[in-house]
Amino acid sequence: MWFKPWKQTKDNLQDQVAMDRLPRHIAIIMDGNGRWAQKRALPRSMGHRAGVEALRKIVKACSNLGIQVLTVYAFSTENWNRPKDEVGILMKLLTDYLRKELDELHQNKVVVRAIGILNDLPLEAQRELERAVERTKNNSGLVLNLALNYGGRSEIVDAVKKLSRDVLDGKHQIEEINEKRFSDMLFTGGLPDPDLLIRTSGEMRLSNFLLWQLAYTEIVVVEEYWPDFGQKSLLEAIKAYQSRDRRFGGIHTN
Ligand code: FPP
Repeated sequence: MWFKPWKQTKDNLQDQVAMDRLPRHIAIIMDGNGRWAQKRALPRSMGHRAGVEALRKIVKACSNLGIQVLTVYAFSTENWNRPKDEVGILMKLLTDYLRKELDELHQNKVVVRAIGILNDLPLEAQRELERAVERTKNNSGLVLNLALNYGGRSEIVDAVKKLSRDVLDGKHQIEEINEKRFSDMLFTGGLPDPDLLIRTSGEMRLSNFLLWQLAYTEIVVVEEYWPDFGQKSLLEAIKAYQSRDRRFGGIHTN
């Protein structure tokens, strides 16, 4: 549990980053739980457990800062290829996280959302997720968007199928399909694209994460393993983002 009210750290945070130029949407590839554990001669499950702790801290920090959306890659479609035990542990951690944190998330106005093929998750996890989404849907704070059984390519293929069906049903013409319509068909429909993508543990890959949505996102890769990524690392990543010159393919005219 978080013992301090979330508000108490806000002033310290404000000193360190430009509060008027915060990324609206931060996406994170939480990588390195296994290596964190291996380095300490611990089982991989301990790495994932420590990963949940890191997630709790980062959710809190993003909420305190006033970030609008935090999307975290918690389980990819490829993660089913891990040993059955490890998949089971990840699902149990997800279920426990939602169960234990829901009150606190709700009190702090967090909106819980999820993207991915959710009906292939274990029933217990689906139930906790539905409960969290339903309870927090009218909140006004940080949107915590959990990517679960998520894959960017299959998300795009699904959107193409939905649009094709709409055309066949006469809902719109092929010529009316545009980027906005396409975006609205993705799991992230209605959310702004990420401004900042953080990947931990030094890997320079997107790993099938938000392939459409990351088109103009600033990428910050940090060497730390995910369980070591804390508030200070988050602020540093935001500072790095704020030092970037975002031109979205154009040039500055002034
Ligand atoms: C990558 O580490 C991390 C994952 C596959 C899952 C991320 C999961 C958590 C942070 C915990 C569970 C999430 C929730 C929402 C409760 P890795 O195992 O690929 O590390 P490695 O590359 O060092 O082996």
